[in-house]
Amino acid sequence: MNREEIVRKQREHVYGAVTTYYEEPLVLERGEGMRVWDADGTEYLDFFGGILTVSLGHCHPEVTGRMKEQLDTLGHTSTLYITAPQAELAERLVRRAPGNLRRAFFTNSGTEADETAVLSAQMYTGRQELVALRHSYSGRSMLAMSLTAHNSWRIGGTHIAGIKHAASPYCYRCAFGLEYPACDLRCARDIEELIQTTTSGGIAAFIAEPIQGVGGFITPPPEYFEVAVEIIRRYGGVFICDEVQTGFGRTGDHWFGIEHWGVEPDMITGAKGIANGAPMGVTLATEEVAAAWQGSTISTFGGNPISSSAALATLDVMEAEDIPARSARMGARLREGLDALAETYPCIGDVRGMGLMQGVELVDAEENPAPEKVARVFEETRRHGLLIGRGGLFNNVLRISPPMLCSSDDVDRALEVLRMAFEAVEEA
Ligand SMILES: Cc1ncc(COP(=O)(O)O)c(C=O)c1O
Repeated sequence: MNREEIVRKQREHVYGAVTTYYEEPLVLERGEGMRVWDADGTEYLDFFGGILTVSLGHCHPEVTGRMKEQLDTLGHTSTLYITAPQAELAERLVRRAPGNLRRAFFTNSGTEADETAVLSAQMYTGRQELVALRHSYSGRSMLAMSLTAHNSWRIGGTHIAGIKHAASPYCYRCAFGLEYPACDLRCARDIEELIQTTTSGGIAAFIAEPIQGVGGFITPPPEYFEVAVEIIRRYGGVFICDEVQTGFGRTGDHWFGIEHWGVEPDMITGAKGIANGAPMGVTLATEEVAAAWQGSTISTFGGNPISSSAALATLDVMEAEDIPARSARMGARLREGLDALAETYPCIGDVRGMGLMQGVELVDAEENPAPEKVARVFEETRRHGLLIGRGGLFNNVLRISPPMLCSSDDVDRALEVLRMAFEAVEEA
């Protein structure tokens, strides 16, 4: 099948709502390491990794090798039977996780991981109400869309009641018009009044991402989580830390994003980069929270031997390569280059993020969101063979998050292509 045929079949038979990047959608055929090739054989340097999911690079031989081996040994069981890969993975993850997280429940996606965490919190606390953050993203189930706070991802109009959205720690566009640190963390402190005025006075959980991914890599001030989580716990809630994007070394120096912020979560949810692209979601919980689950539960595909083997191989490579340190090192190089570009190109309003999770917010002359500039950068970077992501409420943030085995040369090449793209935007 050539490119045109593939696109035609997709357009005729797949839900039209399945959104794709670029004016002309990109049809990818093959990947190896940092690179992918399209159906016409054109090569691209991949600095988005299938939404921060291909954490070690495409078709990493250690990961694919272990998956193939497992496929030839035992491909599927369901959670009604115990397998070594799932049991070993649970042990490895709880050992790696911060604080007192001792139990794992495996699913297939971040959406399911968040669903499991919320239900666990509700059963543990006996309460129903939840606090989430504006600009957050939790997935595509009814509950996950209700937690999500972006109109474009809250489709359907019917939502689950009892979810309140606190202001995001989005310093560049502060909801209170204040400046850090003079703001005294108003966004975090406002959670108390939010609970007092919009809930029955006690909550089940606060769910938040250490860095808001889909929101445009919104990075909170260092004290944000300490202040917010203290309030949450005072009102009876547990803290669910959504590490779907930030987990597994992505933010540099630590395995989990929350470890930067001096707070121990009661639950962590993970997915995306955990298995280098094999479908997997996980909910990690304390002994007490996990024990509060009433009744039995199963997941047909959750923790399946193939995804579990992929995750174990991914963890092995991450440990051998010290991915958190590497992500910090390469992230610093990337950030230095992006900060330099921001000095030169006025369309760059803000550069933010940690490790290999760097966001660039594009603006017009009045610092209003400029999604059309992002669209232009997208076409230009594609033309020069670089794939990046985008996000933000107004689609005006570039999300740059390559596989974490990227080299200095890869980072320098990506920066050079971005420079050419910003040049084109400023000239337009
Ligand atoms: C922070 C966060 N949580 C949850 C999800 C949902 O994950 P999935 O798409 O695997 O269901 C995403 C997906 O982008 C995410 O970024």
